[in-house]
Amino acid sequence: QGLKDAIGKYCLIGAAINQWQSDGQVPEADALTDKHFNCAVAENCMKPESLAPAEGIFDFRVADKFVSYCEQHKLKVIGHCLVWHSQAPDWWFTNGYAASPASKEVLKARLIKHIKTVVGHYKGQVLGWDVVNEAIEDNGSFRNSHYYRLLGEEFIEIAFRAAHEADPDAELYYNDYSMGQPAKREAVCKLVKKLKAKGLRIDGVGMQSHNGLDYPNLAEYEKSIDAFAACGVKVMITELDMNVLPNPEGFGGADIAQNFELQKRFNPYTEGLPAAKQKEVDQRWLDLFKIYYKHRDQISRINLWGVSDGGSWLNGWPIKGRTNYPLLFDRQYKEKPVINEIIKLYK
Ligand code: G3I
Repeated sequence: QGLKDAIGKYCLIGAAINQWQSDGQVPEADALTDKHFNCAVAENCMKPESLAPAEGIFDFRVADKFVSYCEQHKLKVIGHCLVWHSQAPDWWFTNGYAASPASKEVLKARLIKHIKTVVGHYKGQVLGWDVVNEAIEDNGSFRNSHYYRLLGEEFIEIAFRAAHEADPDAELYYNDYSMGQPAKREAVCKLVKKLKAKGLRIDGVGMQSHNGLDYPNLAEYEKSIDAFAACGVKVMITELDMNVLPNPEGFGGADIAQNFELQKRFNPYTEGLPAAKQKEVDQRWLDLFKIYYKHRDQISRINLWGVSDGGSWLNGWPIKGRTNYPLLFDRQYKEKPVINEIIKLYK
């Protein structure tokens, strides 16, 4: 029995799939995907930087392969993402070769063109899009991104409108991290209500859920599930994983392989997790899934951010070269025993 046989009765269950997998290079991951998942998100290849390398050029080759992979493996496709401050192409914000910044009008036109072209290209093939990703800070204020600086908060409306025009049947989502933070929760609810009041389509709120062993505060996290559902949108757990390593302050970008001191402090489980630590990690997974089960009427999708531990972005962030254990399948593509406990919760 796979996760999709149990959890699939209530909601979609999927994973972020990387390019190696959708290019057909990881048969072990294909087998796990077939057994456990019924939806998928492209980990990187549908982001603006990948699809729009230069003005006037769209490169759909890798993303098209991902979409055919999903068709072949019977996975509903979730599009990620249309507007994000990170992994946006640099040329969006400047004028040609000149160093001068793009004007408000130019940026607006580029955003609309991008969204209409991409959503139009996949019309009918994508169930729903992360239209805007990470526009709100943890303190509830708008992120001071290029979009916000030039267009103000209206950039969000512009994006949702363009996406809906390009594919009226596609679901549209707002997606962000640290969604258990009270100020952020409030700001996201305000945004959803505002979009709805203006007659714009918004179907869901994505709670990324890049979790750790001691964050988020689960009571606050649960409050956010309730709060988003109360705004009349679907709640989605969109990028679920669990960082089991200590989070260093001030070492962002450091290369751990070059520093013995950092190895000892921040890469302590290179030989595998000790039994006691594994128990703690398993308990944390169960605590989370108990919440998801309890809120099964509000949650419409649970999506892990990766398939196996070896492929997770958390081996490279916030320090490069760590050995992390953030997912439900290990480096040998074996199912971790906690999966059966999760399945039991849904029986
Ligand atoms: O593919 C290139 C390769 O050609 C190049 O040689 C190499 C050198 O750096 O980079 C490779 O691209 C990397 C890519 O991952 C694929 O591995 C990028 O540098 C790297 O920046 C990129 O990181 C991704 C990150 O988003 C970008 O910000 C992670 O894989 C991806 O898991 C992560 O996902 C984000 C979600 O989209 C939004 N929420 C947070 C989440 C985690 O950061």
